[in-house]
Amino acid sequence: MYSPKLLLLLLLCSLNSYSFASSDSFYDTFVQCLWNNPKTKDEISKIVYGPKNSSFTSVLQEYLRNPRFNTSTTRKPSLIVTPLNKAHIQATISCSKKIRVQLKIRSGGHDYEGVSYVSDVPFVILDMFNLRSIKVNIKDETAWVQSGATLGELYYKIWRKSKVHGYPAGVGPTVGVGGHISGAGYGNLLRKFGLTVDNIVDAQIVDAKGRVLDRKAMGEDLFWAIRGGGGASFGVVLAYKIKLVRVPPVVTVFRIAKTLEENVTDIVHRWQFVANKIDENLFVRLLVQPATKNRTNSAKKSDNKGKTVRVTFIALFLGDANGLLSVTKAQFPELGLTKQDCIEMSWIQSVLYWANFKNGTSEKVLLERKLDSESFFKRKSDYLKTPIPKDGLEGLWKKIIELGKAGLVFNAYGGKMSRISESDTPFPHRDGNIFKIQYFANWKEEGAEAEKKYMEQTRTLYSYMTPYVSKNPREAYLNYRDLDIGTTNNGKNTYNEAKVYGMKYFKGNFDRLVKVKTAIDPENFFRNEQSIPPLPS
Ligand SMILES: Cc1cc2nc3c(=O)[nH]c(=O)nc-3n(C[C@H](O)[C@H](O)[C@H](O)COP(=O)(O)OP(=O)(O)OC[C@H]3O[C@@H](n4cnc5c(N)ncnc54)[C@H](O)[C@@H]3O)c2cc1C
Ligand SMILES: *[C@@H]1O[C@H](CO)[C@@H](O)[C@H](O)[C@H]1NC(C)=O
Ligand SMILES: *[C@@H]1O[C@H](CO)[C@@H](O)[C@H](O)[C@H]1NC(C)=O
Ligand SMILES: *[C@@H]1O[C@H](CO)[C@@H](O)[C@H](O)[C@H]1NC(C)=O
Ligand SMILES: *[C@@H]1O[C@H](CO)[C@@H](O)[C@H](O)[C@H]1NC(C)=O
Ligand SMILES: *[C@@H]1O[C@H](CO)[C@@H](O)[C@H](O)[C@H]1NC(C)=O
Repeated sequence: MYSPKLLLLLLLCSLNSYSFASSDSFYDTFVQCLWNNPKTKDEISKIVYGPKNSSFTSVLQEYLRNPRFNTSTTRKPSLIVTPLNKAHIQATISCSKKIRVQLKIRSGGHDYEGVSYVSDVPFVILDMFNLRSIKVNIKDETAWVQSGATLGELYYKIWRKSKVHGYPAGVGPTVGVGGHISGAGYGNLLRKFGLTVDNIVDAQIVDAKGRVLDRKAMGEDLFWAIRGGGGASFGVVLAYKIKLVRVPPVVTVFRIAKTLEENVTDIVHRWQFVANKIDENLFVRLLVQPATKNRTNSAKKSDNKGKTVRVTFIALFLGDANGLLSVTKAQFPELGLTKQDCIEMSWIQSVLYWANFKNGTSEKVLLERKLDSESFFKRKSDYLKTPIPKDGLEGLWKKIIELGKAGLVFNAYGGKMSRISESDTPFPHRDGNIFKIQYFANWKEEGAEAEKKYMEQTRTLYSYMTPYVSKNPREAYLNYRDLDIGTTNNGKNTYNEAKVYGMKYFKGNFDRLVKVKTAIDPENFFRNEQSIPPLPS
């Protein structure tokens, strides 16, 4: 084993030997800057990974969650900093500013377009995975959670302290708190409790000047902006203080799959009239995807005759099975829910159920940071305010069968979501929405051809849906990042470019976000392909 002193010496030597090689000059300048900063001086060997470091690739890939950005031609960061405390973040901001390099912030790395770890200009990654403490306080029903924590870790820690508390965040256990909450994350509790950002009481952020600000110090405008406006435009979010919500000791889940042959068109059509109005203890998600019909003599593999569409109704009800059945019998009998379909369990078990773990899986699985099978993927989003007529649904099924891979997820709105005003947080998609749509394609085939084909499938479905979804603007959900809906020249970031995607993600809140940005970061240090620009001074 090397002693720490020897390691330091080795590092020093390597620094010296690097400093004259021009290809490494950028890396050297940055490390030199950290070296000159008393906050990082002694810890460079623990927190800085340059391209020559043997761990560079594995650190980069650890929180790279979409293999579309895992190719040899994807531009790599000039270095990765993995801060252990806020002083390291301050030093990294200061050096990035001095050297005028783009800083990308990564928490869980789940950005659908890799915006937290990919760029088309030289950049540095600030990787937050070491900063993931979670302090749950059941007495005042709050928790401080650092942005490098995952949702699974958060749910687990809450459950260890209380079986009747939860938090209305997303269903993916490995999703990072930093991106998820700052982008207004939601989950299956949204009809009862709203979004993550409707349940935040304080926050800590490091701004472009390196100041560490809590809610009081940052003021209500910035506190508003980092609850749905995307953290990465405003600073490095260190932590959020969240408000826990009360969940009953017994909840009920079900999953019912129906195909076209089982009259699914009628059921989906009807669902649109109850989705956002039904008892708010019930959340139903529809997973709509192409499927293969059960073999019949006429079905051949090579044509579309053997194909159908399967819609899976996935639900969480905050109450027992009898309570759920009385709701569906009265308000949505068309689904034909029976007692046999209903599974009663604790809230934490429902978290596992929704994350597709087998019954009996230990809650400890929520602490695992790498769970997902890594498919290539593309996502898009839409909002729906009037029901799709039956012939519209039939046309959609036809398209889904034709394309063969892409599908959609419908997430019911209403309930608490309708009682919160559009300007309460930067997230504007509130009253009047029946459901949100996520378009998806997942694929395993390598190469540009497959990528083009499957990405195009999501765009074809999106295009088909144009007459049925929100217009002027056609709204989109920030956390379902989609660079198709507009980007800004990375680094220049003009108001007019940004307004194109900004209106879709934020509607009337866009201009207030620009105002907050202009006040906190007028030089536009914190920027990316879809960030909020400051107004020119
Ligand atoms: C499997 C899976 C399931 C999902 N389920 C849901 C769901 O149920 N509900 C839902 O709403 N969304 C869901 N999402 C989307 C998810 O909310 C977003 O992708 C989210 O932005 C990911 O956050 P992250 O920290 O993991 O990502 P990252 O890629 O690390 O970050 C995303 C964005 O936030 C910025 N950012 C990250 N950390 C910070 C920070 N500390 N300070 C400032 N800016 C920061 C990044 O720079 C980037 O712009 C899911 C995604 C996946 C892949
Ligand atoms: C990078 O590599 C050097 C030398 O191999 C090592 O001393 C240093 O600790 C590494 N840095 C990190 C952050 O692991
Ligand atoms: C990225 O590619 C490497 C091989 O170069 C592979 O080992 C790793 O699993 C990939 N990761 C992702 C998320 O695709
Ligand atoms: C579908 O609807 C038709 C006509 O309403 C009905 O006769 C048939 O039984 C239904 N099929 C199923 C599987 O519900
Ligand atoms: C095929 O049959 C099984 C068993 O009857 C059923 O559960 C499944 O949903 C059917 N699949 C399709 C695509 O019809
Ligand atoms: C899940 O497993 C437990 C025992 O581990 C069992 O009692 C329960 O009935 C199972 N639930 C389902 C839905 O299979």
